[in-house]
Amino acid sequence: MKPNAGFGILKWSISAACLSVFMLFSGMVSAADEAEPTLSKEKFEHSKALYFQRCAGCHGAFRKGATGKSLEPEKTRKKGQKRLEKIIALGTEKGMNNFDDMFTKEEIKDLATYIQMEPPVPAEMSLSLMKERWNTYIEPKDYPKKPEHSLNWENFFLVILRDEGKIGIIDGDTKEVVTKVDTGYAIHVLKESSDGRFWFTQGRDGKMSKIDLWMSPPKVVADVQVAFDARDVAVSHYGEWKDKYVIGGGYWPPHFVILDAETMEPLKSVSTRGVNVDGDFVNEARVAAIYNTPHAPTWVVAIKELGQIWQVDYSDIDNLRIEQINSHKFLHDGFFDPTQRYFQIAANASNRMEIMDSVTRKFVASIETGKMPHPGPGANWNDPECGPVAGTTHLGEGKVAVWGNDPKDHPDQAWKLCYSVETDGPGLFVRTHPTSDYVWADQTKHPEPEVQQTVVVIDKKTRKIVKYIRVTEMEKAVAVHQEFNKDGTEVWISVWARGAGDRAKGEIVIYDAKTLEEKARIKGLETPTGKFNVYNRVHHVT
Ligand code: HEC
Repeated sequence: MKPNAGFGILKWSISAACLSVFMLFSGMVSAADEAEPTLSKEKFEHSKALYFQRCAGCHGAFRKGATGKSLEPEKTRKKGQKRLEKIIALGTEKGMNNFDDMFTKEEIKDLATYIQMEPPVPAEMSLSLMKERWNTYIEPKDYPKKPEHSLNWENFFLVILRDEGKIGIIDGDTKEVVTKVDTGYAIHVLKESSDGRFWFTQGRDGKMSKIDLWMSPPKVVADVQVAFDARDVAVSHYGEWKDKYVIGGGYWPPHFVILDAETMEPLKSVSTRGVNVDGDFVNEARVAAIYNTPHAPTWVVAIKELGQIWQVDYSDIDNLRIEQINSHKFLHDGFFDPTQRYFQIAANASNRMEIMDSVTRKFVASIETGKMPHPGPGANWNDPECGPVAGTTHLGEGKVAVWGNDPKDHPDQAWKLCYSVETDGPGLFVRTHPTSDYVWADQTKHPEPEVQQTVVVIDKKTRKIVKYIRVTEMEKAVAVHQEFNKDGTEVWISVWARGAGDRAKGEIVIYDAKTLEEKARIKGLETPTGKFNVYNRVHHVT
């Protein structure tokens, strides 16, 4: 009897527990039924893909927010379907893009629903999966021994054709498009081998490609996917490790991967998840930018959410040494001073430029420059009073801020603001050349066409804007990114045509660097953005 009675009680308690769990569960379902946004599996997958391609870069894979705000369900559900649709379609004045020219109404509606649902956990990527996604098109032994063409490849411009997933290669002498090669989607940056012959690209889709400029026409010789969402790449240039390794950084998964620069075989993957400068664990600690340091066998790897610059030593990758240099959150892109010792990088959401010393591998200084500095490849020049200086544009305001960067001969001015110039709108890129009297800045992030299509030219001596140049008047097109040619006589600016159906209407407009007059237009380019002149990039001409 006893065992049976005991069993009976046990049985009852199990079923009671089941019942209460069932009640809880069914209660949840029915309460959520009215509010729970849903999508068919197909639409969910499509929205997920769009989110990863177009939104995750600013809002994060887990939607916790970065440059853009948090889009977690408890926030987005409060806004509601209609309001979300409107924000996605039209954007906002504080930096959210409009997508009505890129997505259909249906896609916008589904995305608005999608961001009210729980974010799916994105997949990891192992070294073996990367190896599966590694393609060799031409074996290194079959690379040409000398250039197959007689073009002046040191004056080639490699142009990101952003939404086309291609790189355009343009001859700077003849202004002819030499070829367009297929790469990853929306290339953020490309970096060169030490002689400038090979170029390595990183797509937002994490696909890295290696391009050989000596081939006729230049070709992609190998590619590999190292992440699902990524931004930057760099090559080892120092000493005996020259051109031995290439490194790619992931937004998702948050890691960096070291590859054989000759074959593109992935060799080693290192997670960047960790504890940030405030002491909080960060799962989505993304690699924002990577640079080779000319004075040490290292790369500077900026870990956005950690607020740390990692100096990764490539002299022994089996016993990898990393200095974790504390600075500020959220790190973005940067450039070296003229001695190439000090690295100047934006912590954009902290409104600062951060300075580190790549020789001592230590943090040096932090300069508050303005709202969300964004220097891109940056600019260094000489100011009559402050001596050697550097400048940056800002994403959050129309301002070029200029600081001293010569601690050796101008210690009083070093790492302090020298002056700033007010422009009409926030921009992405600032650029100059040692032979030029001027510094050029774009205003791409301003919502008004007249402003976002105009670049400003600042005189290095008077510190004043001497010319506003309207680069285009094409509807829905913006002027973005300046790059000088090899001898510094021309400035190339991209016209990024963003209207639906206007993709191939992009142009590069070329200005005389002295007279500031228009010289030529290269037409028929699909969404051109960043440009990389081989010679200037190899020789760090900024
Ligand atoms: C270039 C960076 C960037 C991209 C890309 C971007 N956003 Fe945003 N987004 C922002 C910023 C910055 C804000 C905050 C704007 C403001 O405060 O007005 C924002 C705000 C929003 C908001 C309003 C949030 C709130 O609480 O007010 C929504 C919704 C949103 N984004 C959705 C999206 C979706 C969906 C995509 C992809 C289709 C996307 N965003 C792509 C930068 C971006």
